Amino acid sequence: MKITIEPAGPGDPKSLPANLGFGKYFANLMFSQRYSAGEGWHDARIGPYGPLSLDPATVVLHYAQEIFEGLKAYRRPDGKINLFRPWENALRFNRSAERMAMATLDPEDHVQAIVELVSLVQKWVPTQESASLYIRPTMIGTDVGLGVHASQSYLHYIIAGPAGPYFSTGFNPVAVYVCSDQVRAVRGGTGEAKTGGNYAASLFVAEKVKARGYQQVLWLDATERRYVEEVGAMNIAFVYDGTHIATPALSGSILAGITRNSVLKLAPDLGYTVSEERLDIQKVLADIRAGRITEAFGLGTAAVIAPLGTLGTEDETYTINDEPGPVARRLYRTLTDIQYGRIPDPYGWTYTIDSKN
Ligand code: PLP
Ligand code: COI
Repeated sequence: MKITIEPAGPGDPKSLPANLGFGKYFANLMFSQRYSAGEGWHDARIGPYGPLSLDPATVVLHYAQEIFEGLKAYRRPDGKINLFRPWENALRFNRSAERMAMATLDPEDHVQAIVELVSLVQKWVPTQESASLYIRPTMIGTDVGLGVHASQSYLHYIIAGPAGPYFSTGFNPVAVYVCSDQVRAVRGGTGEAKTGGNYAASLFVAEKVKARGYQQVLWLDATERRYVEEVGAMNIAFVYDGTHIATPALSGSILAGITRNSVLKLAPDLGYTVSEERLDIQKVLADIRAGRITEAFGLGTAAVIAPLGTLGTEDETYTINDEPGPVARRLYRTLTDIQYGRIPDPYGWTYTIDSKN
């Protein structure tokens, strides 16, 4: 794919505060390309980061034909930059596109666009501990008109910005509300796709329970309200007796997380056993009470591993941990060591971009 390169917009990473937060700052270049039926993808360019101009009747604004991805670029000790499994994000982007009746793209072109953008904005890849450049590929339907239909034209763009840890509380256990009323996603619906509507659907409960001191929502399956699905915008895992890691099997309404998949591959090499199964929330709560579940954590690109401290229901609070457990610590350390290139990557997960400085 030929990408036209234009001058960057204003902005200098040197002016950013040391505490970056998450998703607040953006590099001064972005990738974009357009799709039109008949013509395919065209006009690939990397140009200044800036606002989009959309007709108020653009389909994405009304019928939510939108998908996105999230991955990170990590500063290695030798100054080069690592991407972590970008091919998986490109493939998942296409799976989301198919589910949302949107145009797919050549995964190699997608990874090339990410690599060229990161290479050009590499001075924006932070060097602080636990910080990285968060990359957000996005696609929106751009047809203008209010008839409900799959758009015939799309805008694909990639923005990137320096970010710190996802939770301002850092690597510390979070309080989780077990939601048995509303649901995030239903089998046969769009839960497996990374599309904005799933996140919109989660906000009502998240806001309601935030006021009661919870940081995340544990979602149950929509049919029986019984089986554990995800926690907030992360996959979830439970540690049994300090040695076994159990995570919900992909059910059709769970997002197939790349962190989850990486932990399933990595954990056995660290001496843990793993299983993907249907996890009944009543059994999980009983196992916490009986001390069989020794840890629980969320898994996702943004937070990597997010230890869960308590699970709260309408009636009771179940305490798992008040500090990160040894399994969460070890997985976090090993995964981030691979991502940042501090240890060799035996899995072929990283793609290294040479530093131009
Ligand atoms: N589940 C949801 C709903 C998500 O948005 C994410 C984040 O991308 C994940 C799980 C974790 O996926 P990954 O590990 O690929 O970031
Ligand atoms: C994740 O990386 O785990 C996410 O869910 C990203 C979030 C900001 C949508």
